[in-house]
Amino acid sequence: MDLFEKLLTNQGPLGKHSDVSEGYFMFPKLEGEIAPRMKFMGKEVLTWSLNNYLGLGNHPEVRKADAQAAADWGMAYPMGARMMSGNTKYHEQLEQELADFVSKEAGLLLNYGYQGVLSIIDAVVDRKDVIVYDAESHACIIDGVRLHMGKRFVFPHNDIENLEKQLERATKLTQETGGGILVITEGVFGMSGNLGKLKEIAALKEKFQFRLFVDDAHGFGTVGATGAGAGEELGCQDEIDIYFSTFAKSMAAIGAFVAGNKEIVKFLKYNLRSQIFAKSLPMPFVIGGLKRLEMLRDNPEHKNKLWTIVRALQSGLKEKGFSIGTTQSPVTPVVLNGTVGEAAALSKDLRENFGIFCSVVIYPVVPKGTIILRLIPTASHSLADVEETIEAFEAIKGKLESEEYKKEEVALAFGE
Ligand SMILES: Cc1ncc(COP(=O)(O)O)c(C=O)c1O
Repeated sequence: MDLFEKLLTNQGPLGKHSDVSEGYFMFPKLEGEIAPRMKFMGKEVLTWSLNNYLGLGNHPEVRKADAQAAADWGMAYPMGARMMSGNTKYHEQLEQELADFVSKEAGLLLNYGYQGVLSIIDAVVDRKDVIVYDAESHACIIDGVRLHMGKRFVFPHNDIENLEKQLERATKLTQETGGGILVITEGVFGMSGNLGKLKEIAALKEKFQFRLFVDDAHGFGTVGATGAGAGEELGCQDEIDIYFSTFAKSMAAIGAFVAGNKEIVKFLKYNLRSQIFAKSLPMPFVIGGLKRLEMLRDNPEHKNKLWTIVRALQSGLKEKGFSIGTTQSPVTPVVLNGTVGEAAALSKDLRENFGIFCSVVIYPVVPKGTIILRLIPTASHSLADVEETIEAFEAIKGKLESEEYKKEEVALAFGE
């Protein structure tokens, strides 16, 4: 069989829906400045789907620093991988400032979070080692685990009793192989908004020997007294052996970093294939990163404003009888019941008639019959935005319950 023929017949789990969803549910184009109000298909929409938690994405000071860095350095410098010819004192300054901020001895920049996580997993475990990971982990963890040549055991999301069982199995196995154990979880889970049970996991170190790797993509900048993330929030930052976060959320850019003690970071510096064999981050991302970190660290008003919006949104939704699951972070999943068809109709109604743009999560990501509208509040939103959104949500919930979205007219009334 021709390889391409096979691919094109199947199109993959997402691609097979492209005919109906491209440009609307998948690959939509949000136009205009990064802000709560942007344009979708020519109409203004109130956006709740950008992980621009602290509103730094388009902050005038950040824009100025980015533009100045691009003017000073261009997009190429430094050329080559860090190890060969692509290192600068600014890269090292940013790594140290990030490490200091998350109370770790050392840090290492990564070009992308996804690629970095894969590469960290690849570097720290070999076929003798065992990975134990949370079932709700982000795709980058799942994919990193898939590449692992040794055994891996999964525990149901945040289920510490089960984790203990997996650690018993892993311990037995590594006693035979002579390997070690890596536990991987997230600081803040991006779908449910739950905090990882880091303290409980760390407490298991008294019983089992393992190292803890935490992906804190959604926690960095949003939780913890200073915004240093889930470990700070839960009082167990020191127990995290490998701390990771991306610049794709609170830092509103591209890039990521990993932090830990000097020895492990030095090991990663010399063994992370995604960094050793790839060009280093261009200067605007580094200078821009320094500016973003300064604002995130020194201007707590951004985090405070974020939480004013989070509290208003989450308590407002709860008061109106919405279920927002078990979130403990800004991530706000609004859980509704309905079919995939109803979810599509409802989401179109929200975008076209109520001017609200948010992500919709449906089967197979969530069980059949469940619809999750995922809202990401940011420091740039206003209380008026929250009010408008809750009113719109009440209206669509009423329509969903009275089965209006079952009627084809609603589903077809858009995009005309
Ligand atoms: C939990 C988590 N980890 C890692 C990543 C990947 O980061 P990046 O976008 O920098 O590749 C994301 C998404 O951005 C994420 O949500």
